[in-house]
Amino acid sequence: MAFETIIVEIEDHVAVIKLNRPDALNALNTQLLGELCSALEDADGNDKVRCIVVTGSDKAFAAGADIKEMSEKGFVGVFFENLFARTNDRISAIRKPIIAAVGGYALGGGCELAMMCDFIIAADSAKFGQPEINLGVIAGMGGTQRLTRYVGKSKSMDMNLTGRFMDADEAERAGLVSRVVPAKKLMDEALGAAQKIAEKSLLTTMAAKEAVDRSFETTLSEGILFERRVFHSMFATEDQKEGMAAFLEKRQAQFRDK
Ligand code: HXC
Repeated sequence: MAFETIIVEIEDHVAVIKLNRPDALNALNTQLLGELCSALEDADGNDKVRCIVVTGSDKAFAAGADIKEMSEKGFVGVFFENLFARTNDRISAIRKPIIAAVGGYALGGGCELAMMCDFIIAADSAKFGQPEINLGVIAGMGGTQRLTRYVGKSKSMDMNLTGRFMDADEAERAGLVSRVVPAKKLMDEALGAAQKIAEKSLLTTMAAKEAVDRSFETTLSEGILFERRVFHSMFATEDQKEGMAAFLEKRQAQFRDK
């Protein structure tokens, strides 16, 4: 499928999806969000893909939902359209691991998109924020919910109420991002991490993602039970036999996703 607002490349089992509306700092308009969801679903269903990286440009991962497109909408319209609900659901339904490689601005919907990925690797140029408050609205795709789970109430309130930006170092200290690297090394670092994930059994990386995600949805005891059931089920796989045999034989495991 030909895309106009994103660029997709698949190499060495990693799909890289680059947001590509440079004139609008990758503002997330309907077309871009539709293409992004389709590309993610394609990658999820493609046997050659074992990990996905979503990235933007040096200046902006994404500067938010497209304000021009939203500005004329009214309540009844956005209610019936259920603005951004489908995007949230489609991205949340992706089962393969997704890394966000963030350089420059990740604001509003851009920050929310990064948080919907499984983890964030940031360039030292990255700036995160939920500035919707300056536009007379609030976050609409997880900025009050996911951000609070990532960084806690105090910082989330600060970001959502003042609209201030958080730089990469603060984002790392707060637990929003897993690593910060010099801007020039961002893609090398993200692709290196993706490659490491791609080497594992896809059965186990998908199971691990599912289990970590449960921790956001349930109590500790239910989450631990879910984890234990999935852990036990792994012993029915050939990859568990291979992984443990390879360790004992001091060789590299050859996983076959079985
Ligand atoms: C539409 C945008 C945009 C956006 C930037 N542009 N952000 N267009 N929607 N969110 C456009 C500008 O209009 C401009 O177009 C071009 O990109 C370059 O932007 P500048 O402002 O000239 O760049 P700069 O001075 O470097 O400032 C960068 C910036 C600023 C700080 C990131 O652009 C900014 O504050 N953007 C808006 C950030 C924001 O409020 N995001 C939240 C959106 S609401 P022209 O044509 O003039 O050159 C949201 C709701 C989420 O995300 C709901 C769920 C998805």
